[in-house]
Amino acid sequence: MLEGRRILLILSGGIAAYKSLDLIRRLRERGASVRGVMTEAAQHFVTPLSVAALSEEAVYTDLFSLKDESEMGHIRLSREADLIVVAPASADIIARMAAGMANDLATTTLLATDKPVLIAPTMNLQMWAHAATQANVALLDKRGILRVGPGSGDLACGEVGSGRMAEPLEIVAVIESFFHRSTQLKGRRAIVTSGPTHEPIDPVRFIANRSSGKQGHAIAAALARMGAETILVSGPTVEPDPAGVRVIRIETARDMLAACEASLPADIAVCAAAVADWRVETPPQQKLKKEGSGAPPALKLVENPDILATLSGAGNRRPRLVVGFAAETEKIVEHAKAKRARKGCDWILANDVSPATGTFGGDSNTIHLVDGTGVEDWPALSKSDVAARLAQRIASYFDAVKAAE
Ligand code: C5P
Repeated sequence: MLEGRRILLILSGGIAAYKSLDLIRRLRERGASVRGVMTEAAQHFVTPLSVAALSEEAVYTDLFSLKDESEMGHIRLSREADLIVVAPASADIIARMAAGMANDLATTTLLATDKPVLIAPTMNLQMWAHAATQANVALLDKRGILRVGPGSGDLACGEVGSGRMAEPLEIVAVIESFFHRSTQLKGRRAIVTSGPTHEPIDPVRFIANRSSGKQGHAIAAALARMGAETILVSGPTVEPDPAGVRVIRIETARDMLAACEASLPADIAVCAAAVADWRVETPPQQKLKKEGSGAPPALKLVENPDILATLSGAGNRRPRLVVGFAAETEKIVEHAKAKRARKGCDWILANDVSPATGTFGGDSNTIHLVDGTGVEDWPALSKSDVAARLAQRIASYFDAVKAAE
């Protein structure tokens, strides 16, 4: 799968560096060559000798080493790769990347490169949740830096939460989908809905929900990476626009439907938005006043259009593959099957949001994919890994369609 691909693997300081040794093996098993760069901190966790032995390449550590610079040099290091992978990516190297610093070989290489970069963050959960880290990661996301993880679980520091480095095989899956990005869905057009909708109560108030748009945006990014012409119809969210995606911003469910219909024809529709089920029938032109109004106003709600069901029933304009989501807390597969039939879509990604899974408010999703043939159970994955896996499955679906044509 990765025959002939050249990966520059940058290890920064984190206990998860031991997993990067396995990552080297997994990449090489698939035919990739791996060249290692280590920060000083990384060398406290694993040795350059281990990286050299597994990669069967020289390992570079020092910006000012006469030997390293004469042998290779940071500019060549950064250019003689098809992809740079930073794993583990510590809070520190993420901050230095965001700031554009070049104070060691790893960051100088990252600043000098013209190649795509994938980071696999790992750190303590508080460090991950810190506003500084979140701002740095958002900036890197915006710059088109690819990211896998972090996932949730037991952390080496003894705490439990978000901050685990993605497993080597998950990183390999993202690398594989990256290398197949520009071919597999080339020529296909995708519409993705994401985020909440805002339904006005009056000119200043609205009904909304807590959807972040993370999952829908990640799916749009993953489809675009695989070469699909991707249109993201998004409700209000703070998520940055994914690279290479056309974003149409809307507020209400009716606007979302109109934008989707105007974007047809399409081959793929993925409805990941949390569309408000109801809207206020006739929002007043002026702000509702508390003073002198007596009783609180009664809001008359009417049902919003169902975008997933409308696209699924769009006759000869129906996208070939229509995918919906279902958040369930019990009888997950049974409910998802019923929803698939009711909406008329092809696949339902049922998300287990029962309290035991920690999905609500967390970063990971536990998906059961229901299609016409049965159910596929996915392990708990980060939202970006769910997106990569879904995009890969969509690509396989269209490969099969092509083969049958
Ligand atoms: O009916 P329910 O809201 O549980 O269905 C969820 C699925 O339907 C999601 O894929 C969501 O994006 C989609 N949906 C929609 N338009 C609506 C309501 C839900 O596209 N009005």
